[in-house]
Amino acid sequence: MACRRLLAVAAVARVAAGAVSSGCGVESTDILEYVGMESLPLALDGHNHILTLPQDYDYETPVPLILYMHGWGGDASEGDAFASTARKKGIATAALEGSGPENWQSWNAGGSSSSPGPRGATCKPGSTDYCSYYAETCECENSDGCWWTTCEDSTRVLLDALEAVEKMLCVDLEQVWVAGCSNGAMMVYEALADSRSAGLFAGGVSIVGAPHPGFWRPPSSSAHLLGIWGLSDTTIPYEASEDAPGPGVALATVDEDDERGWYYTAARNVTRAWSLHHGGPAAPVATNAYGNGDVSCSTFVGASRETVECTVKAGHVCGRADEIETALGFIEGRRGTSSDKSSSSTSDAKVATAAAVAVVVTCVLLAVFIVSFLFYRRRSRSRGIFELVDVSPVNTLAAPGIAAPSVVGKRPTPSPLRGSPPPRALRPTGALLTPPREGGGGEFPS
Ligand SMILES: *[C@@H]1O[C@H](CO)[C@@H](O)[C@H](O)[C@H]1NC(C)=O
Repeated sequence: MACRRLLAVAAVARVAAGAVSSGCGVESTDILEYVGMESLPLALDGHNHILTLPQDYDYETPVPLILYMHGWGGDASEGDAFASTARKKGIATAALEGSGPENWQSWNAGGSSSSPGPRGATCKPGSTDYCSYYAETCECENSDGCWWTTCEDSTRVLLDALEAVEKMLCVDLEQVWVAGCSNGAMMVYEALADSRSAGLFAGGVSIVGAPHPGFWRPPSSSAHLLGIWGLSDTTIPYEASEDAPGPGVALATVDEDDERGWYYTAARNVTRAWSLHHGGPAAPVATNAYGNGDVSCSTFVGASRETVECTVKAGHVCGRADEIETALGFIEGRRGTSSDKSSSSTSDAKVATAAAVAVVVTCVLLAVFIVSFLFYRRRSRSRGIFELVDVSPVNTLAAPGIAAPSVVGKRPTPSPLRGSPPPRALRPTGALLTPPREGGGGEFPS
């Protein structure tokens, strides 16, 4: 007990140094049992998240952490390919699950359930009204017909998950990132704009997503941004459309003479505003410092935070390897760049780390004398918020409410609805460690 208190004090000292999470130096058996394992389910307030530890994780070395948000109707397993690639690079991933009924999980982000906004309605009149799926959290009588996600406070979901993960894992607090695809990418902008969460993140990676027109907000805290758009994406298009109501507005196209569809902020409007906000130029240059495979990127050189606009020769797809490599290369490239937050805390952190290590060593010695007693007590104690399941590899996950990815990949598509869908992304087939294939596992409701 004294040991635990000492460890807690050491952890607090390190947090005070502003560099690492309270999970550092805390030898939690709940975590250590999973070292060497790939992924574990993390059920929080009805959200079935999946936490993937970095390869070679140890509880004293702070690691970068990425929160990954799935697209519309997805779930945490959409982040499998992303997380397993990050794992090999020593990065932890918490793939989060949004809110809504099964197969309709979503994020309230970028005006998804706030239409009309300052630039009017976010969809053409007569578009399919999806609000009824979210009636539990939305007051649908206020919808103008364009609401299509949960009305819950999705930033809260991120904050709660982050708090839980930082208590469990030793996280480098200067390397916490948000990444997401489609509706999850809209959540990336939301998380960086919301003053409750923005300061917690070094930056974000947005894959095939953008806020609705009138709902782009500047980041509340300086943040790096890399956005990837699909050149053949007709759901959240890269470029502004000529027949959209106003400049810089992209319109989803469903078929030639479709009268329906959702509006999004065009890519360049998003990245240019990001650059200008950070003192950068209005136009990028094609440096291609980050592009990978089919992805090519341009950088707004001179912005105080790296601002990158990428395109890929693909449609509205989540989980493709090239995008994942690009995203992770960007995040890795930002590690240890001195402009990130304050670097003066680093030496404080080192002192605190040394203190924590000393405490740990002392405690290990003490523990030798009481280990049998502790062993007996721990066996009868609750295991905390992890659902302990023997999982290796991840697709044998069997915790209640957590579908195995292989099942998720084949789940029935939501009931067909007339009209143009908001951005439900295609995703390559789901199994972890299976190289993504484009076009597999499509799940458009139409
Ligand atoms: C995009 O940017 C242009 C130029 O600043 C501006 O006129 C336009 O209103 C913007 N559109 C949106 C949807 O933000």
